Amino acid sequence: MPALGDGQAMTPLRRILVWISGASAGLGAALAATIPFERAELIDISRRGGTPGAHHVAVDLADPESWPVVEKDFRQRIEAGDPELVVFIHNAGTLTPLGSADHVDTEQYTRNVLLNSAAAQVLGQSFLSAVSGRDCEQHLIMLSSGAARRPHEGESSYGAGKAAIDQWVRTVGLEQQRRSPGCRVISVSPGSVDTDMQAELRAASLEEVPVSGRFRDMQALGHLAKPETVARTIWSLLDRDLPSGTVLHVRDVT
Ligand SMILES: NC(=O)c1ccc[n+]([C@@H]2O[C@H](COP(=O)([O-])OP(=O)(O)OC[C@H]3O[C@@H](n4cnc5c(N)ncnc54)[C@H](OP(=O)(O)O)[C@@H]3O)[C@@H](O)[C@H]2O)c1
Repeated sequence: MPALGDGQAMTPLRRILVWISGASAGLGAALAATIPFERAELIDISRRGGTPGAHHVAVDLADPESWPVVEKDFRQRIEAGDPELVVFIHNAGTLTPLGSADHVDTEQYTRNVLLNSAAAQVLGQSFLSAVSGRDCEQHLIMLSSGAARRPHEGESSYGAGKAAIDQWVRTVGLEQQRRSPGCRVISVSPGSVDTDMQAELRAASLEEVPVSGRFRDMQALGHLAKPETVARTIWSLLDRDLPSGTVLHVRDVT
């Protein structure tokens, strides 16, 4: 069974389970590569997989039939492993299709809504249910975006999905504050990060995304953050004194 790190077998190590959706590329791959634990069992939930040292749950999260597959994985590993620390970072997301709502393809738009909005809530709920009542440290981190607060033309379903994530986190965060131990649920906006998603934004026409020129300028000026830098900041949230339900931006983390 693959495990990260090369801890010695002299003393029993903490059993740590880490699920990352979309660990196959971009920020998710950087999160997988910078796991701050000596030894952790990593599970990548994505279509492509290929993440070094990870189990792969091969699913298309825009397909609702995949959600019970992920739920089963949460439950089976938690029940089999009796972990001391469990983390789920829901990072998978998509901008596709970019463009105004009246012009984009409805089938692609449906997939966007299912992945960015519905899958986040359903997988988050599945994780909370799977860890409920377990005597272990529990963290759920959701990747949000500045588009949750400011309307970005050409990204309506993306922004709406991220706004849904933020409000979901605020709400279940309050619920978890009543539990002992509860799951610490946080939403984090990563800023502008140099990944394929940014390349997709830069490739958009001004008609599709009127502010796409700003992202071309940012790249030209070297203003995009490195995925590994942002990933380390996200991991640092685990050690910070943040109440469950916190919605924050990486620039707020000093
Ligand atoms: N990059 C930025 O500037 C930026 C800014 C704000 C917020 N964010 C957020 O940060 C997160 C990571 O973004 P990124 O820039 O790393 O994106 P990315 O480079 O496009 O990578 C997206 C990841 O999500 C997975 N994914 C996409 N569609 C999927 C599907 N249908 N089923 C399963 N997995 C799927 C992909 O895996 P497979 O293709 O293998 O399935 C991939 O690993 C996203 O939630 C994004 O909204 C990014």
